[in-house]
Amino acid sequence: MHDPIVILTGAGISKESGLDTFRCEGGIWSKVRLEDVATPEGFLRDPDLVHDFYNARRESLRDPAVRPNAAHEALARLERDYPGEVLLVTQNIDDLHERAGSRNLIHMHGELTKARCDACGSVLHWPGPLGQGDSCPNCAVTGRLRPHVVWFGEIPLDMERIYDALDNCGLFLSIGTSGAVYPAAGFVQHLRMAGQARTVELNLDPSEGASLFHDGIYGPASQVVPQFVETILAGKV
Ligand code: APR
Repeated sequence: MHDPIVILTGAGISKESGLDTFRCEGGIWSKVRLEDVATPEGFLRDPDLVHDFYNARRESLRDPAVRPNAAHEALARLERDYPGEVLLVTQNIDDLHERAGSRNLIHMHGELTKARCDACGSVLHWPGPLGQGDSCPNCAVTGRLRPHVVWFGEIPLDMERIYDALDNCGLFLSIGTSGAVYPAAGFVQHLRMAGQARTVELNLDPSEGASLFHDGIYGPASQVVPQFVETILAGKV
C-alpha cells in the first residue's frame, strides 16, 4: 500500500543552490528588518523599499548559477516514480521546485515570480522588476501591484488543501526548515495528534521542533534527501 506523502520544504533546501536562508548565520533577517520588508505595514510605510527587496531576490533567480540542486531533483523524481500521491508544500517563494520538475506543489507563502493587484485581485506572472509605477494589465490601475508573497500577519495560501492532505497522509517529510514560523511549524504537531502518519525531519541540524518527529536525518539536503528518496522508492520506509 503506497500511502500519500506530504513534504514541507523551507529555505534550507535552496541554500546549496545559492539562495540565502533567513535565520542561519548571515541569513536574510540579519541583513534587513522583516518588519520593514515582510509585513503589510512595512509595504504601506515604504513600498519602494519593499519592491527593491523583492526585485533583488527575483533578479537572483535569473543568475545561471542559481538552479535546482540534487534535493529539488530528488523530490521531483519521488513525485514521478512513487505509486501513491506526493504533495509538496513549500514555504519558499523561489521557483526551484518547479524548475526541477515538481508539479503537485503548493507555495503556501506565495511566489517571487508573481505579482498581485490590490485593486482587482489578479495574480500575474511577473518575472521582472516590480514598482509603484507599474500598472495592472487587467484593470489598468497603477501603483496597486505588490509581490504575490504572504507577509507576516497574513494568511498563508491553500491551507484547507494542505490540512486535508496532512489528514490523509501516511508519511510527512519536513526538509530545510527551522520550524520557527507557523502554521508550517505546527504541521508535525497536528500529525502527532492525529497519530497515523510517520514524520521525518531532514535538515542540516535539528530544528526547533526536532523532538516532535519520529525520525531525524541530518546533513546537507543535497545529500540526505536523494538518499532518503531512494529508500522510499525501494519500499524500505
Ligand atoms: N540543507 C538542509 N538544511 C539546511 C541547509 C542545507 N544545506 N542549510 C540550512 N539548512 C536549514 C537550517 O538548519 C534551518 O533549520 O534550513 C533551515 C532554514 O531555516 P530558516 O532560515 O528559518 O528558513 P525557513 O524555515 O524556510 O523560514 C520559514 O520564515 O521568514 C519566514 O516566510 C519566511 O518562509 C520563511 C519562513
